[in-house]
Amino acid sequence: MCELRVNTFLLLFFFFFFFILTSLIAAQNCPPVTCGSKSFNIRFPFLLQGNQNQDCGYHGFHLSCSSGSSSFLSETVLKLPNSGDFFVRDISYAKQRINLSDPRNCLAKRLMRLNLSDSPYSAAYVLNFMFLNCSSRNLGFRPNFGVIDCLSDGKNTVLAISSTFWASYMISSYSCMLIETVPVPVSWPMKEDDGYIVDLNDNKLQLSWGTPDCRDCEEDGGTCGLLNYTRQEIGCFNKKTGDSSGRKIARIVSLSITVPALMCSFGIAFSRCCRNREGSEGNGSNSSEQTALQPTVSMVGLSEETIQSFKKMELGQSRRVTGPNDIVCPICLSEYLPKEILRCIPECNHCFHAECIDPWLRMNRKCPLCRNSPCPNA
Ligand SMILES: *[C@@H]1O[C@H](CO)[C@@H](O)[C@H](O)[C@H]1NC(C)=O
Ligand SMILES: *[C@@H]1O[C@H](CO)[C@@H](O)[C@H](O)[C@H]1NC(C)=O
Ligand SMILES: *[C@@H]1O[C@H](CO)[C@@H](O)[C@H](O)[C@H]1NC(C)=O
Ligand SMILES: *[C@@H]1O[C@H](CO)[C@@H](O)[C@H](O)[C@H]1NC(C)=O
Ligand SMILES: *[C@@H]1O[C@H](CO)[C@@H](O)[C@H](O)[C@H]1NC(C)=O
Ligand SMILES: *[C@@H]1O[C@H](CO)[C@@H](O)[C@H](O)[C@H]1NC(C)=O
Repeated sequence: MCELRVNTFLLLFFFFFFFILTSLIAAQNCPPVTCGSKSFNIRFPFLLQGNQNQDCGYHGFHLSCSSGSSSFLSETVLKLPNSGDFFVRDISYAKQRINLSDPRNCLAKRLMRLNLSDSPYSAAYVLNFMFLNCSSRNLGFRPNFGVIDCLSDGKNTVLAISSTFWASYMISSYSCMLIETVPVPVSWPMKEDDGYIVDLNDNKLQLSWGTPDCRDCEEDGGTCGLLNYTRQEIGCFNKKTGDSSGRKIARIVSLSITVPALMCSFGIAFSRCCRNREGSEGNGSNSSEQTALQPTVSMVGLSEETIQSFKKMELGQSRRVTGPNDIVCPICLSEYLPKEILRCIPECNHCFHAECIDPWLRMNRKCPLCRNSPCPNA
């Protein structure tokens, strides 16, 4: 008698469980779609307007498929509230990142007017670029970095440079005008003194989003979707439970490694902080705040002594420079002349005019060409 009751209870329980499960699966009725010949899937939180139901996407994540001359040539279009239309190149649902491009192939121009407020997107990292307007006649040459072709014409050369050193160099040496300084979204963390290699001619803009956060669900192999459209509530459907238990174990293992590591680094930071406090006679509240905000200590250049210790040489009549070097100074782009003084960086043997490389090394520790550190211990 008692056994029977338990069995009925279990049966009811399983029935109820499966009912909930199937209703959850039924709620998720938004198969991924694509637009044009691009291979990426469009699915939650994104919604392709006209192809999917309203409740398949989250607010602010509506995409459209441009009506190209043929469906093959169609492009996925994202309209940013204050910045206009971009083409979507790629979406990473695991990292919540989206790659965009400018339909007219002049991303730099769009970046000068980019305004992400009122959109769910933000920049993963930001790097400041100085936009310079140089008279092509003053320049007399085409710089081998930073030229924005789509903003330049025969008379004026527009440069976008992330290094304050190079921007001020161009302003003082070639009377370039600063148009404005623009914070540009970049896909990995960079510092301004990392050099001038970052090129805005690549028609690629990477943005990320934080809400809705489907990362845990994606990681568990589930499908993220709306539970309630009016409340914009999200849920995770069809989780692969077997997989997730494996991941849980991996997570526990990684936690057991990262927690002690974190505590250890906290300990180190704390002891450093204490030492700072002792050094600055008690009031370290500001300095500790600064270190928390700026975990990467901004790099300073090499000491004068170190710079002077690097090999210097006077060019002979042959103007031949040894090592992996051209007959042109990579910094000022002028040809070497007899009797000019060059300085070479020991690690990589790259040489420059001494008067060009010395100011650089006072502000940077790395070779401007290969970005090797000349003196790892200096
Ligand atoms: C976007 O661009 C970055 C940088 O070029 C690249 O590493 C990434 O794979 C691209 N795709 C996504 C979805 O982020
Ligand atoms: C971005 O656009 C919003 C709304 O139009 C405006 O209020 C805001 O000032 C703009 N921000 C910048 C930096 O232009
Ligand atoms: C650069 O300056 C010239 C005149 O000095 C101006 O006509 C041109 O529009 C400027 N270009 C940009 C992109 O600001
Ligand atoms: C969604 O939320 C709204 C407002 O809270 C509620 O009125 C509605 O019944 C909910 N819909 C479903 C399907 O649960
Ligand atoms: C530390 O500085 C803050 C403000 O900068 C001040 O209010 C506080 O009294 C100072 N503490 C000591 C111990 O000097
Ligand atoms: C702390 O920083 C604030 C704002 O940056 C400044 O006004 C104040 O003088 C600083 N205090 C000390 C003790 O450095």
